[in-house]
Amino acid sequence: MSERNTFPGGDTASIWYGTFDVPTFPALGRDARADVCVVGAGISGLSTAYLLTKAGKKVIVVDDGTIGGGESGRTTAHLANAMDDRIYLLEHVHGGEGARLIVQSHGAAIEQIEQIVRAEKIDCDFERVDGFLFLGGTDGVDVLDAELAAAHRVGWTGVSRLDRVPHVEFNFGPCLRFPNQGQFHLLKYLAGLADAIVRGGGRIYCETKVSGVEGGASCKVETESKHTITANAVCVCTNASIADMFKTHMKQAPYRTFVVAAVIPRDSVPRALYWDTTDPYHYVRVQRLDEPVPGATAGAQYDALIVGGEDHKTGHEDDATKRWSRLEQWMRERWPQALEVIFRWSGQVLEPNDYIAFIGRNPDGAENVYMASGDSGQGMTHGTIAGMLLSDLILGRQNEWESLYDPRRVSLRTKPMEQFAKENADVVLQYVKDFVTRGDVSSEADIPRCEGRVVRHGLHKVAAYCDEDGSVHIHSALCTHLKCVVQWNSAEKSWDCPCHGSRFDPYGKVLNGPAITDLEPIEE
Ligand SMILES: Cc1cc2nc3c(=O)[nH]c(=O)nc-3n(C[C@H](O)[C@H](O)[C@H](O)COP(=O)(O)OP(=O)(O)OC[C@H]3O[C@@H](n4cnc5c(N)ncnc54)[C@H](O)[C@@H]3O)c2cc1C
Ligand code: FES
Repeated sequence: MSERNTFPGGDTASIWYGTFDVPTFPALGRDARADVCVVGAGISGLSTAYLLTKAGKKVIVVDDGTIGGGESGRTTAHLANAMDDRIYLLEHVHGGEGARLIVQSHGAAIEQIEQIVRAEKIDCDFERVDGFLFLGGTDGVDVLDAELAAAHRVGWTGVSRLDRVPHVEFNFGPCLRFPNQGQFHLLKYLAGLADAIVRGGGRIYCETKVSGVEGGASCKVETESKHTITANAVCVCTNASIADMFKTHMKQAPYRTFVVAAVIPRDSVPRALYWDTTDPYHYVRVQRLDEPVPGATAGAQYDALIVGGEDHKTGHEDDATKRWSRLEQWMRERWPQALEVIFRWSGQVLEPNDYIAFIGRNPDGAENVYMASGDSGQGMTHGTIAGMLLSDLILGRQNEWESLYDPRRVSLRTKPMEQFAKENADVVLQYVKDFVTRGDVSSEADIPRCEGRVVRHGLHKVAAYCDEDGSVHIHSALCTHLKCVVQWNSAEKSWDCPCHGSRFDPYGKVLNGPAITDLEPIEE
């Protein structure tokens, strides 16, 4: 494969970055003015900017990295309105009408993507495929039956039960078939959106970090480089919001999820989306490979089989190698045609307590400030819903999804209470634990090169990173959001916060919000 795979936001490379050069955009070099400023150039931000540009608004997009350099670039890009969290659970939490709207909105998002791909002629491998949900772990067919009945209740009568997943050798047993799902090459799609935004008069600035957002009749977006963007409205699409510091973060929990991609002979696995019912579940799809692969037979063509799963709560484990091995083993047992694993990576998803994203007006009440967060593993469609809903809100158009996704909502029913209570208790536990426990090692001398460890210095804990030359870089281990102690992630070489998912590079520089400021350096 190509040498492209230097990857923002972590140390591993996704298949998207390994097979495509993202276009670059300059940093913002002076103050600017726009109708709307969108912060974040992932799928949420660029979808919002695209639809607003099409509606005639002058839009500025700013991102502190490259386009797609956040969680979008780490996705597996299933486009589904078969819901990860099961339609029958959504019915329980959001009622029958809520569940219907959720399924309908994700379906509309796939249609929106298809329409944009067609209108802008974006060459991004978009295609409609079937999705298959099969049993995993000890789950019984009652899970499939309950989901089938719920799908039919919300009006999706095209969902059907089959005796086995068709056209694959391994017998996965009974499954549900969800027609008309989709898949694409995420970075090619985002590059197409960016191109259309610029052609439509929008401006995109990368490597431009936002340090503050102020609402009002005239909103102000301040950058770290001390420039100001003035706009009539601001959309904060930074995955974890950097404009709402508390409300949505208390209603969602960060999880890390893992992926391997192996070479397979072209068309040896039908292009479809495959999921099992375990928790955490496995998610599988196929992507065409157009570039030479390691050990390729002359004249042969190949695809990649992309397999994800093995999620854990952020900052709670540091055993990525084992998780990737288990994924690979699970894949090889089912798809023996898998050849060499050419990519393995991980990323973070935010799981809301009532399963659906937070999209709408900023909950702290800042005037004309909007946000999108809480992707819940379905961020391709949630991000596109964000584009549709936020552009409607700004343009003053009615949208029947407004109250459903409103970040200010208080859901009377949430996830099974014991699970959500456990997640909140876990945040409290982090604070208590960090006061009383020792560090990972007793001194900086015990840290291997290119690794980080939390070390106790008297009453304080520090995040110490030993670089490749043996120099140790020390920062306060207190996350600059709400002061939980960060944990070392050796796979991505980052400091990850277990409480609300902020991440920092080995030298303390913030990678992911909600934190906006870097870890505090400590002089020895
Ligand atoms: C391994 C993995 C597999 C997944 N698979 C799927 C899937 O198959 N289907 C699916 O639907 N979803 C999937 N998801 C989820 C989906 O990828 C994400 O939810 C989605 O990409 C999030 O998009 P976003 O635009 O909200 O955030 P991001 O892509 O993270 O974009 C946010 C942007 O904001 C920028 N930013 C942050 N802070 C600042 C700041 N202070 N100043 C300026 N810019 C800032 C970041 O640089 C980033 O580019 C997966 C996620 C992972 C990790
Ligand atoms: S992300 Fe909230 S305390 Fe770290």
